[in-house]
Amino acid sequence: ALVVRQRMKSSGRWARAMAIVKEFEEKCGTPDIKLKQVADAMTVEMHAGLASEGGSKLKMLISYVDNLPKGDEEGVFYALDLGGTNFRVLRVQLGGKAGGIVHQEFTEASIPPALMGGTSDALFDYIAEKLAKFVAEEEQKFHQPPGRQRELGFTFSFPVMQTSINSGTLIRWTKGFSISDAVGQDVVAELTKALQRKGVEMRVAALVNDTIGTLAGGRYTNKDVAVSIILGTGTNAAYVERAQAIPKWHGPLPKTGEMVINMEWGNFRSLHLPLTEYDHAMDVESLNPGEQIFEKMTSGMYLGEILRRVLLKIAEEAAFFGDEVPAKLKISFILRTPDMSAMHHDTSSDLRVVGQKLKDVLEISNTSLKKRRIVVKLCNIVTARGARLAAAGVLGVLKKMGLDSLKEPEKTVVAMDGGLFEHYAEYRGCLENTLRELVGEETASSIVVEHSNDGSGIGAALLAASHSLYLKDKS
Ligand code: GLC
Repeated sequence: ALVVRQRMKSSGRWARAMAIVKEFEEKCGTPDIKLKQVADAMTVEMHAGLASEGGSKLKMLISYVDNLPKGDEEGVFYALDLGGTNFRVLRVQLGGKAGGIVHQEFTEASIPPALMGGTSDALFDYIAEKLAKFVAEEEQKFHQPPGRQRELGFTFSFPVMQTSINSGTLIRWTKGFSISDAVGQDVVAELTKALQRKGVEMRVAALVNDTIGTLAGGRYTNKDVAVSIILGTGTNAAYVERAQAIPKWHGPLPKTGEMVINMEWGNFRSLHLPLTEYDHAMDVESLNPGEQIFEKMTSGMYLGEILRRVLLKIAEEAAFFGDEVPAKLKISFILRTPDMSAMHHDTSSDLRVVGQKLKDVLEISNTSLKKRRIVVKLCNIVTARGARLAAAGVLGVLKKMGLDSLKEPEKTVVAMDGGLFEHYAEYRGCLENTLRELVGEETASSIVVEHSNDGSGIGAALLAASHSLYLKDKS
């Protein structure tokens, strides 16, 4: 009798867990019709954001880049790329016309978590110190004479209200950074002061968002690049707009007639977005409640956390992992998207990677194959929703640009970068398939998605190159 009762209990629990999973799946649904509504809403918000400052959740920030690299940039330039869990410093030697990138070197370091919530000085001192060390080593290696003017492209991947190509104030932090005394400050001035404190002589020639860097880096190698998308810790898009289509721009009309726009699409939100109770709870508890809603559904910082929240729910309400709720499962952000990706891509017949990850990360052991399958299914629901929404976002941008119904031989290249795009194959595949599906067969072959590997750092160096010349011409 006991065995029968236990069996009944466990089948009741299973049914309860499956009901929760099913409900989650339904709420995450992204049928094409819904994605088209998302795309249209994106287009509408783009117009509103361009019309006036504060006109939309989409900031549509003016980058002051009105001239993308042409390929004749020349000289040695540095770049500093700050914006996620890691930051990088680069040295790039550009060979001028037909020379291309003659040489490049970089070093990477992670940002200590404490610095992400400390003071502006502490963060910039840390960065300046790494940069100083790198510069010294490089110059020794390349026997560079001292006293040369060094120029830097600064990729700073947060929303910045630019006041020129090499100045701009931080609007707010995103992606887990929260250094309150930096908000409202000119980040170039902050960096420059830190460089002076460390005794490094260097001028910031260009301040760019990572999307802008990626667009510039992409354009350098492929003239058809017109849009760039970052899918990493956070997500964002940039594209080339006609200056005359930017009512809020009151500056002089650029010679090219163009202006690159940093959309800050992570902050997009719309009633058409399929939000669930898990998204709401994660948002409320986040460092930036009510903000970056699109980012919280699509980017690398959050996908693993959404999965964790669903697993916690079935653990609590359906004893999915046994009578006790696993303690680790209660810790926010413990399940990282790379771990989720590893589970999602497990091809072994007994899903042993899933079992191992659950054990290593969450200290959950002895999971049955049946349960592991559910975990994979949840990975798929969360990833598919994110990737499909990102594809809808791209369609929205293409529509705004009037490129959503191109035909061969016309081509538009969308340069993409970021760890999520690069390493999460299921995500990337789903995004590319969805985009193809959404634009339709005839246009699909005209829209090329290209991985622009580390374009953002090189792009910043390229923009430093073109703007250092420009600045010299002016003075
Ligand atoms: C966040 C930032 C944005 C950046 C993106 C990708 O959305 O606000 O500036 O481009 O992450 O790194």
